[in-house]
Amino acid sequence: MKPDLDLDRLAYETLVDKAKTKSIWKDGVFLPEEYNRIADAVENFEVRDDDVWVCSFQKSGTTWTQEMVWGVTHDADLETTKTYLNERFPFLEFTGIIITARVAMRENHPDLERWIYDSVNYCKDLPAPRHIKCHLPFNLLPRQIRTGEKKPKIVYVARNPKDVCVSFYHHSLLLEGYCGNFQQFCELFLGDRLNYAPYWNHVLGFWEKSKGMDNIMFIRFEDMKTNLPDVIRKTAAFYGKQLSDSQVNKLAEHLSFASMKKNPSLNKERTVEIISEMKVFGEHRPKGEFIRNGTVGQWKEKMSDETIARFNKWIADNLKNHLDYKV
Ligand code: A3P
Repeated sequence: MKPDLDLDRLAYETLVDKAKTKSIWKDGVFLPEEYNRIADAVENFEVRDDDVWVCSFQKSGTTWTQEMVWGVTHDADLETTKTYLNERFPFLEFTGIIITARVAMRENHPDLERWIYDSVNYCKDLPAPRHIKCHLPFNLLPRQIRTGEKKPKIVYVARNPKDVCVSFYHHSLLLEGYCGNFQQFCELFLGDRLNYAPYWNHVLGFWEKSKGMDNIMFIRFEDMKTNLPDVIRKTAAFYGKQLSDSQVNKLAEHLSFASMKKNPSLNKERTVEIISEMKVFGEHRPKGEFIRNGTVGQWKEKMSDETIARFNKWIADNLKNHLDYKV
């Protein structure tokens, strides 16, 4: 990645003091330095063929997809969805990436949940079939997945990058200690200075792999918005599940924006609470809600014409050799 001191400085300066992070390039991926603490454990993670994985670039509809996949693999039994999502469908690299975990590790908060301070081992010890969320790009997934030695079924969800950027901005205000403005955030997005960037390495990495690896299914946030029952049926077929129309409808209702927004097992109230309790961002209070807006095309309201033009050029440049990928 090209060094750019101005962008690196911007990435650092737009975080509140306690959240300020030294970042590294790990195999071309922008990550907090503390990721190194778990990198080997992720690389060597023992994968199982019956694992259920959901992967994505942050803010692409991961939580929505996790709950859909969980519902499908549990035959739309909503009783099983009542426990906290992060406990039943944890986030593999949480401990090495997410600021809550990193501050907790620095400050030693042993009373915290294990999925926060020891996420890789928490995932390792889940009962089968393990359900695992991961935001790493394909080139940083555990070796056994990359080589095809193990073939867990992976659902990858993608979303229009302009909406991802808007959503990521609000997410960063709420959960990452971001204190810059939206325009600065767009610079960081386009300049690949956000965790897991570059965006296109992520999305196109999985897009290309999904063509040759039948254990990866590629879905889109926008298709879930247009016809959720259809995406539920495709996901069920991917997992070899037969869901009746009434099960599909029940699950679609459970997955509606209104229902998810008020569901405490999904809406990350607990994470926001931990941030406040631990004063992760000092006296700075998290603002907003995780299940926030959930629409397509928010960028039209939020971005200036000039920024839209820059995004459009960036999209066209990156898709020059991937003309079959539709944003
Ligand atoms: P917005 O910030 O645009 O509202 P992730 O889980 O990858 O972090 O993605 C979060 C985004 O998915 C948020 O987008 C959130 O509102 C949206 N989302 C979550 N559940 C949803 C649902 N049931 N319907 C529509 N959008 C949903």
